[in-house]
Amino acid sequence: RREPLVLGIETSCDETGIGIVRGRTLLSNTIASSMDEHARYGGVVPEVAARAHLEALEPAIRAALAESGVALTDVDAVAVTSGPGLAGALMVGVGAAKALAVSLEKPLYAVNHLVGHIAADILSSDEHGDQAPPLEYPTVALLVSGGHTSLLLVRDLTSDVELLGETMDDAAGEAFDKVARLLGLPYPGGPEIDRAAASGDPNAIAFPRGLSRASDMAGHRYDFSFSGLKTAVARWTEQRQAAGEPVPVADVAASFREAVVDVLVTKALAACRDYGVPRLLLGGGVIANRRLRDVAIERAAAEGVTVRVPPLSLCTDNGAMIAALASELIMAGRPASTLEFGADSTLPV
Ligand code: KG4
Ligand code: ZN
Repeated sequence: RREPLVLGIETSCDETGIGIVRGRTLLSNTIASSMDEHARYGGVVPEVAARAHLEALEPAIRAALAESGVALTDVDAVAVTSGPGLAGALMVGVGAAKALAVSLEKPLYAVNHLVGHIAADILSSDEHGDQAPPLEYPTVALLVSGGHTSLLLVRDLTSDVELLGETMDDAAGEAFDKVARLLGLPYPGGPEIDRAAASGDPNAIAFPRGLSRASDMAGHRYDFSFSGLKTAVARWTEQRQAAGEPVPVADVAASFREAVVDVLVTKALAACRDYGVPRLLLGGGVIANRRLRDVAIERAAAEGVTVRVPPLSLCTDNGAMIAALASELIMAGRPASTLEFGADSTLPV
């Protein structure tokens, strides 16, 4: 069967992502980010993000087509993230995707952003450029970014993805950003905390692991909470300052990072154990954190679980993963979306 040529549009947060894939082959992955515009606010401002998508979309589509050498009229299908994400930001992508599909008279696939993150794995290739072996089922997926922290059980990418748990408050990346701000470090905070933590002692301060006590776990075995951790860091640093003592930024950063990593890995491996799944897929921008990858791989190995991590350019929000998911849906014979769908900021998997 001929492999579908799919153009994917992702605008759920602050990245305008346009991806083009043929079957499981990545042809281009163009990203325009409005991150710099949000930096002075210390987080993503929805209105600013939506406006930036509007400006970035058309040039990004042109760049993706040029990079892949694909003519727009050759595209077999258009794919777009319809949720979850920021409502206004999503609407820009959905509107553009509908317009493209209608004018090209091609099918349109509205897809779920979280499932898209999992589909990113399909496009992975090894150091020789060879396609990675296909995703095996079932697999547990841990997605961690500035917008989400979700644990999923994937039995089939195109038909059976179950949300096991998610954050009850802040996303993990958001916690990094907020704690960085508290420590006087710039946005985005993840890389800054990472850098500061390199010279710190991860065991210097015993910060809390959210939703990890037996009493908290009832009904929340796979859920996360990071707001208590953020408050604990704030209280700890305030007490130091009130006592006139300097804040040991490296130790605070390392201890905070360790608490986040510990709880993420512990819960992901608990899901693997409970469901008898020997595979764990990691995704989302927080995967840039080397400590998270190292701890996950090491502790997973001890339990006989293999860890897959797509390259970082496919872990952060991008359009290629959206195109890849639609491509899988097409190859599995699933019907296209009708044009009535809208943007759904809380779209379930
Ligand atoms: O996936 P992403 O690029 O965008 C969305 O949030 O959708 O993820 C960005 C998030 C930010 O919160 C950033 O602080 C965090 O990922 N991040 C990190 C690291 N690099 C980026 N968090 C921890 N350690 C890092 N090295
Ligand atoms: Zn995302």
